[in-house]
Amino acid sequence: MRVAIFVSGRGSNMEAILNEKKKGNLPNAEIALVLSDKADAPALEKANAAGVKTVFVDSKPYRKNREGYDAEVLKVLREHNIEFIVLAGFMRIITPVLIEAFSHRIINIHPALLPAFPGLHAQKQALDYGVKVSGCTVHFVDAGMDTGPIILQTAIPVNPDDTEDTLSARILEFEHRLLPRALDLATSRRLRVDGRKVYLL
Ligand code: GAR
Repeated sequence: MRVAIFVSGRGSNMEAILNEKKKGNLPNAEIALVLSDKADAPALEKANAAGVKTVFVDSKPYRKNREGYDAEVLKVLREHNIEFIVLAGFMRIITPVLIEAFSHRIINIHPALLPAFPGLHAQKQALDYGVKVSGCTVHFVDAGMDTGPIILQTAIPVNPDDTEDTLSARILEFEHRLLPRALDLATSRRLRVDGRKVYLL
């Protein structure tokens, strides 16, 4: 499947996917495009260095028009014959314009055990709440904020002396394993979605 990775920032999860691809561990995923909503996202440079086609889609003309932005993104995706989308630190809400065009073909990585702590600063939310366990989740994207059917999760203990930085770094290591694994399952057509439940075939 021709895959687009959507990024907004650092791009370490994108790099994890590119590394797994290089190792031959994503036989059914062709990383055809990296798309960013931020012109200066470090992820863009990293993708270019890895020889992956990149595109920046500016959100400024669409400040009050999320659907308009997604329609522009959809145009770019169609130009590149994209079949599957990975959100890897893409910090925008996706509208039905994209979700309906890519039904059960958009996945997202989130740095918490959903449904706990959706949205921004999930690791800080977890620390502030005082949970003893957090982790990361890969899920299909629906119209809500981090609410779609869950594909894979990893649980990680929270240490008493953890800061937002130490917890985030520890979770990130596991994100880098979980996201390529979920992408492999999805592009190998080994996932079946039934309502909220995702079955591994
Ligand atoms: C990752 O921790 C990812 O889980 C998080 O942003 C970071 C991006 O890092 N995503 C969310 O919080 C989405 N709600 P990266 O750019 O180095 O992959």
